[in-house]
Amino acid sequence: MSPKPKSSIVVTIDGPAASGKSTTARRLARLLGWMYLDTGAMYRAMTVKVLDHHIPLEDTEAISRLAETTEINLISTSNETRVWIDGIDRTDEIRNPAVDRAVGPVCEVPRVRELMVGFQRRLAEKRCLIAEGRDMGTVVFPGADLKFFMVASVEERTQRRQKDMLKQNIQISLKELEAEIRKRDERDSRRSQSPLKPAEDAVLVDTTRLTPEEQVDLILKHIQNITAGMEHSGPK
Ligand code: DC
Repeated sequence: MSPKPKSSIVVTIDGPAASGKSTTARRLARLLGWMYLDTGAMYRAMTVKVLDHHIPLEDTEAISRLAETTEINLISTSNETRVWIDGIDRTDEIRNPAVDRAVGPVCEVPRVRELMVGFQRRLAEKRCLIAEGRDMGTVVFPGADLKFFMVASVEERTQRRQKDMLKQNIQISLKELEAEIRKRDERDSRRSQSPLKPAEDAVLVDTTRLTPEEQVDLILKHIQNITAGMEHSGPK
């Protein structure tokens, strides 16, 4: 019997901050010609809007109302994803330290998650994609074709984050960054809304001693194993 044609293949990559998800997901998507879905960028975009409106982070009702009228678009080019909020390209602002500090409470607002999850699922219709975030394999795409959960030591993740920050000319000490990463890990893992945890059927990948190339190769092999046995509509 010929394999069932498939118009959409979903591969999820979850894990804590700076565990190597973004670099790996972006490179994989480029190699395969698939869409790269950066869901952290969506929550960051919502946070930029909350900060624009000076809404107190504990005012979940006002944040929910604001989310209803916010239009977020992810526009992927060959080497990056541009983030548009209400028709304006705000990509350069979503990784500011102020957004890092505020995104935790914003992404916990149930209505915000509901709206973002709906958007994420619509993007995956009839498309092959690599979806990156915290709850991709557990909540958003429980039926994904392949799931990965990336981890790395806090020390390694702190150094990676500092390098990213320096590229943006943002200077933060390792000590301060490590404290922030630990705080975010704690918050992401303990929250009641879609906490950070591996899906039961996720492949665990420890990237502490892996180069980005090795991370991509490892995941690519898994993807090739599953796509070899299925016919799909090719790059999307
Ligand atoms: O991956 P990131 O650092 O850009 O994510 C920013 C924040 O958004 C992070 O604190 C966790 C949250 N997030 C989430 O709750 N669910 C996702 N699917 C992706 C990110």
